Amino acid sequence: MANLELYPQIISNRVPKHVAIIMDGNGRWAKKQGYLRMFGHKQGVNSVRTALEFASELGIDFITLYAFSTENWNRPKTEVNALMQLLVDTVEKEIPSLMKNGIRLKTLGNISQLPSKCIKQLNHTVEITKDNQGTTLVLALSYSGRWDLIEATKNIVNQVRNNNLNVENITEETITRALNTSEFPNPDLLIRTSGEMRISNFLLWEIAYSEIHFTDVLWPDFKKEDFLKAILDYQSRERRFGKTTEQLT
Ligand code: IPE
Ligand code: IPE
Ligand code: MG
Repeated sequence: MANLELYPQIISNRVPKHVAIIMDGNGRWAKKQGYLRMFGHKQGVNSVRTALEFASELGIDFITLYAFSTENWNRPKTEVNALMQLLVDTVEKEIPSLMKNGIRLKTLGNISQLPSKCIKQLNHTVEITKDNQGTTLVLALSYSGRWDLIEATKNIVNQVRNNNLNVENITEETITRALNTSEFPNPDLLIRTSGEMRISNFLLWEIAYSEIHFTDVLWPDFKKEDFLKAILDYQSRERRFGKTTEQLT
């Protein structure tokens, strides 16, 4: 399904398998032009569509989008409610385009915290798209890295308590498997828009060796060319995983 001919700059065998994005700057984008923050969130949906199309074109297997963090629950109630409504509307409206592009939807996070209309719509769209063979879109909702680590810890403690696991046998693999992200590979590339250079409690365990690309572009302005820049930046990096350059060849 990948259509790389359009992007000769891209090295075809070094396309990231998993790209994670902290989609930031919607509010500032709106305020800059005298609009309410919510207008920025609505425009941000267009950037999601564009990013998904590009990921499909490139044959990226997984794209994880940080859409709502655990900490975002502390925003004004009006904004939280409007974001939840935007989520329901978007996840419903985009079904035809997900089907057309072969995109499979998955969720990540404490979904049970979401309003029931969101849970229903998400479950419905996950179910309808589950056999699609293209890019997997992972929507991180009511998610934070620390939340997931706490849940994983509880899970591991229970395994030990039930005599299914020996404390001495706890490995990286044990933790990876206990996380909500267990079915996804670690992100190769993490992108954050809006000029902020922080992780904001995103995939803490999983990004241990991800390449990170920061851009000043605000999320509603994030276009294919910005995504392309991030991919090219990624391809210019040498991923050493602790080894020396000489060991890599
Ligand atoms: C990102 O944009 C979207 C969410 C966190 C839901 P923001 O709403 O954080 O926009 P800024 O950072 O305030 O500009
Ligand atoms: C991170 O953005 C969360 C999402 C993009 C969903 P925030 O805007 O919430 O992050 P901080 O508060 O600037 O760190
Ligand atoms: Mg923000």
